[in-house]
Amino acid sequence: MVVQAPAQDAHESPRGVTPAGFKCLVTEMVCWATGGPQEYTGRSMKDSHQHLMITAAEWEAFLDDLQQTLDKFAVPPAEQAEIKAIVASTRADIVV
Ligand code: HEM
Repeated sequence: MVVQAPAQDAHESPRGVTPAGFKCLVTEMVCWATGGPQEYTGRSMKDSHQHLMITAAEWEAFLDDLQQTLDKFAVPPAEQAEIKAIVASTRADIVV
């Protein structure tokens, strides 16, 4: 995801997930969450993000990036609403 939070700028994963592996896991998770047939094989959102101490402001910056991306690729309003609802459902496990 195109997040400018410090944790992702560095893109250092203390658990050994490379940038390519990270991208693969996020893709897999979003495909799984939007109906599959992919299965998500990564860690839970809480386990993956708790140690990053992501703030509400960083989350808002991420949502802004997400909106710009959806608009850039002209994703229709109904599908935008669907993906944003899925993303919103992960907030409680990601933001400190
Ligand atoms: C402000 C928002 C977010 C930031 C800054 C962020 C940052 C990160 C970082 C740095 C990692 C690697 C952690 C590690 O390996 O130690 C990670 C893992 C991951 N994130 Fe996020 N993330 C954000 C939101 C999201 C959202 C909204 C989703 C999905 C809807 C997501 C899905 C994932 C997945 C699937 C992984 C990999 C889990 C694994 O390694 O098994 N992230 N994130």
